[in-house]
Amino acid sequence: MNDDALLAEQMAYYRAGAAQYDRPYAEDEALQELLGVVDDLPITGDVLELACGTGQWTPGLAARARSVTAVDASAEVLALARARTPSPTVQFLQADLFQWQPPRRYDTVFFAFWLSHVPPARLPRFWNTVAAALAPGGKAIFVDDGPAAAAYEEVVANQSAPAALRRLDDGSRYRIVKVFHDARTLTNDLAALGWSARIRTTAGNFIGVAEPPTIP
Ligand SMILES: C[S@@+](CC[C@H](N)C(=O)[O-])C[C@H]1O[C@@H](n2cnc3c(N)ncnc32)[C@H](O)[C@@H]1O
Repeated sequence: MNDDALLAEQMAYYRAGAAQYDRPYAEDEALQELLGVVDDLPITGDVLELACGTGQWTPGLAARARSVTAVDASAEVLALARARTPSPTVQFLQADLFQWQPPRRYDTVFFAFWLSHVPPARLPRFWNTVAAALAPGGKAIFVDDGPAAAAYEEVVANQSAPAALRRLDDGSRYRIVKVFHDARTLTNDLAALGWSARIRTTAGNFIGVAEPPTIP
């Protein structure tokens, strides 16, 4: 299976599973606590949120931002996100992030639990897109699963990218891309692309703040 097929299956998983997506946020205290980190992060100005899902992070971003533009490929999760944050300063957009080019620049580009779904071969292009979306002085801020989270996934071998198998309540099964970035390696990988990143780990997750390469 190539990356395109894996990414299509990943998108199908999130569309089909929209109604059950929020369950871990309701049941897992650590995840609820993690949402609070937005208060300690330099989120400011006009914020672009990539892969917003059902909008668990969006209200926290909106509370600190002048505006939030939240993008996701799934109409099903976006419907839930819109209902959660009906605010005139928050706009939701449906787009495939592997095709979409941001039409303007933002002070903050935020993404939670998205980086782990980007195939390694597409990471340089992804980070270039994020850099192009940032206004001068802007920052990328991201949260995701670290290597410890691998223990809770059914890893699938021999795919075009690191992958895991996810199951929905109806028994359907989907392969998704799942890369468990280690904070130090990710910091170095970003440095190799010209970014300056500070990434800390907390209870199995990592939280990163990164500044893009400066364009001479
Ligand atoms: C793990 S969820 C993260 C949602 C949210 N950021 C959170 O932390 O709760 C990944 C999200 O990526 C979205 N997604 C999957 N493939 C996508 C694509 N190609 N373009 C845009 N969004 C995509 C899914 O619909 C899903 O909402």
